[in-house]
Amino acid sequence: MKTQLNKKSIISFLGITIITVFAFSFTSRPGSSEADPSAKCIECHQKTGNGKAIVEQWRESRHSKEGVTCLDCHNAGKSDIDGFDHHGEHIATIVTPKDCGMCHKEETTQFAKSHHADAGVIMGSLDNVLAEVVEGHSSYNNGANPAAASGCWQCHGSKVELLKDANGLTKLDTNGIPLFDPKTWPNTGIGRINLDGSKGSCAACHNRHTFSKEQARQPENCGKCHMGPDHPQAEIYNESKHGVNFRAHKDKMNLASDKWVVGVDYTAAPTCATCHISATPTMKITHDVGDRISWTLRPPVSQKIDLAMKSKFEKAGKPLPDGFLTADQRRSQMQNVCSQCHTANYVANFYKQYDNEVNLYNDKFGIPATKIYNQLKSEGLLTALDFDEKIEWTYYYLWHHEGRRARMGASMMGPDYTQWHGNFEVAERFYTELIPEIQDLLEKSRKNGKTEAADKVEKTLNEILNSEMHKWYLGKLSPEEIQKRKEDSKKYRERYDH
Ligand code: HEC
Ligand code: HEC
Ligand code: HEC
Ligand code: HEC
Ligand code: HEC
Ligand code: HEC
Ligand code: HEC
Ligand code: HEC
Repeated sequence: MKTQLNKKSIISFLGITIITVFAFSFTSRPGSSEADPSAKCIECHQKTGNGKAIVEQWRESRHSKEGVTCLDCHNAGKSDIDGFDHHGEHIATIVTPKDCGMCHKEETTQFAKSHHADAGVIMGSLDNVLAEVVEGHSSYNNGANPAAASGCWQCHGSKVELLKDANGLTKLDTNGIPLFDPKTWPNTGIGRINLDGSKGSCAACHNRHTFSKEQARQPENCGKCHMGPDHPQAEIYNESKHGVNFRAHKDKMNLASDKWVVGVDYTAAPTCATCHISATPTMKITHDVGDRISWTLRPPVSQKIDLAMKSKFEKAGKPLPDGFLTADQRRSQMQNVCSQCHTANYVANFYKQYDNEVNLYNDKFGIPATKIYNQLKSEGLLTALDFDEKIEWTYYYLWHHEGRRARMGASMMGPDYTQWHGNFEVAERFYTELIPEIQDLLEKSRKNGKTEAADKVEKTLNEILNSEMHKWYLGKLSPEEIQKRKEDSKKYRERYDH
């Protein structure tokens, strides 16, 4: 087997004695000698049936070339509760960020403070009424919880658990291998809660056993999770000019390069990684995907991301972490990326277009719809339970699907998502469903004697509908506005006819 030396090995080669180098190349070369305890893993596992492909994938990896072998990752400490004796070694099946972090400290620290790492905690803390009550049932098939286990948790991450027998001991298979609760594993959700207390799965983006940067840089990599009706980033990117250019010039993207600096190693197009993770000539790679975004587009009403995070820390009684970035700082980091391919004015104007769209959604639909929805709940005109009444589904579609699509489309240059899957559907939902459904509910509530509560909500509804942006719906455009629209439309028609 040939020895491959990279730059780092050459530097260390110069720094240490020849004897050490001899010792290195004879004892630590992966799978090459009896002295390497991973040699037997490779030897046995490469036989068909025991995961031959795993060994081949690993052989292809940078790790194998650097001498990182099976046991470097699978070795288990005595305190690992999923550790087991396996052909003379004590190993664990699941390899967590704690394990990767032994060699990749910076990436692991950055990842741990990201929203990605918290994506599983959300599943635990939130009363997941949608998956556990509405779509599924908590005791279905002994709590198999398929709607969460095969749905939500595959993206967000499960809380990994071992199967226990009646005495509370871990169940083993015939090879003495511990059995995981199938509800919780296999799972590579981005915020998986691991048995060693760590959060996340590096394999969410770095597929095993190649763990290649090339694969992680591709937009498809993020698309497993960032797609669909409520966060269609993959679709938005595909329709954007950035996605178009990526596909047209993929062969010029230098994706397999070790160093991958935008504007230096490639210029044809940005991928998701380029904008959210990768390096620029003046900025390092980050494994906290929140480092470059200024708004959060997820909630019913968008907030600047630092405000949203500050209130989260305050609620938990925790101080802000060191090096906490303001929304403006995050934005300028993203603009650092854009500026490798665009001018400052171009980028500044893009951000104005984006901010305007987020503010329009907030002001015209997000804020009023949320205000009236919360009032229906607080006045007792809707039950405390979510999703048992039509209006709750209507409101959910408005912010969680259509309202997000409008905002997300604008953030990443996907006009069809901003317009036809976004603003158009938000408006349709608001005027043709939410408002009429509220009016019906108020009428019903009055019949049921809840007149006072209904009057209160009606006051809010009237304020909203009579406000500047909604009064057209009541036929209340002023004569001046009607005149202006007529003149505009005449001008358009003249231009069109010529
Ligand atoms: C003599 C053969 C042999 C050797 C040596 C061996 N394994 Fe295995 N290993 C197996 C077999 C067989 C299985 C079970 C495969 C199956 O169920 O399909 C297994 C299972 C595993 C699993 C999966 C456990 C699970 O939860 O499904 C891991 C991880 C693993 N081995 C890693 C290693 C590592 C690391 C080494 C080196 C310390 C090693 N193996 C050495 C034969 C071997
Ligand atoms: C860089 C770290 C790393 C190295 C090196 C590594 N593994 Fe893994 N291995 C992982 C990760 C990560 C998983 C996925 C576990 C999870 O998170 O669900 C895994 C899973 C496995 C599994 C169970 C998965 C399945 O699909 O059945 C086996 C078996 C396994 N590894 C064997 C090996 C063997 C054999 C070697 C050496 C040739 C090896 N691993 C080298 C990180 C590593
Ligand atoms: C024993 C140390 C060690 C462990 C444990 C380890 N790695 Fe690595 N890894 C390395 C070395 C050395 C390199 C090559 C130098 C570099 O890129 O830092 C590397 C490179 C990488 C790369 C870049 C690959 C490429 O295409 O160039 C990725 C991604 C990676 N590791 C991810 C992981 C993940 C994920 C885990 C845990 C599942 C892990 N590593 C565990 C030592 C380790
Ligand atoms: C296809 C992968 C996927 C599935 C399945 C999925 N989610 Fe998500 N979820 C995401 C992504 C990606 C985001 C972040 C979207 C963004 O930032 O644009 C997210 C965001 C969220 C948020 C907002 C978090 C925050 O910080 O505001 C919650 C809550 C949530 N999901 C709950 C669920 C629940 C509950 C389920 C199942 C009923 C579920 N998700 C299913 C991928 C998924
Ligand atoms: C959201 C996806 C994602 C997750 C999760 C993720 N990575 Fe990465 N990682 C990437 C991308 C993309 C790159 C390539 C960046 C580049 O070279 O432009 C990368 C690069 C790396 C590199 C090479 C860095 C270098 O300087 O060349 C290492 C090492 C690494 N990741 C380790 C990890 C570890 C350890 C974890 C878990 C704590 C992890 N990654 C989780 C996306 C991810
Ligand atoms: C395994 C699923 C999964 C993969 C793969 C994934 N993400 Fe995420 N991502 C999520 C979830 C879930 C959230 C929401 C987390 C939360 O708010 O708790 C999220 C949130 C984000 C956010 C918002 C961060 C913030 O601080 O608000 C960004 C940006 C992001 N992801 C980018 C990426 C990029 C870029 C990639 C690919 C390189 C990627 N993600 C891969 C699941 C994933
Ligand atoms: C040209 C750069 C660029 C590319 C390419 C790109 N994004 Fe973004 N992304 C942005 C910008 C800009 C924002 C909004 C930042 C802000 O709010 O300040 C954003 C926002 C996001 C968010 C935050 C949504 C939220 O809920 O707040 C997620 C998640 C995300 N992108 C994921 C992805 C994924 C996945 C891909 C690839 C399919 C991708 N991005 C491609 C620039 C990019
Ligand atoms: C690697 C280079 C690269 C990076 C980085 C990059 N872009 Fe682009 N961008 C392009 C190319 C190429 C086009 C297509 C130009 C054209 O319209 O002919 C484009 C097009 C655009 C468009 C026009 C979209 C349309 O439909 O006309 C906008 C707006 C834009 N980029 C904004 C941004 C912003 C904002 C960022 C940073 C968040 C960014 N770009 C990052 C290369 C890049």
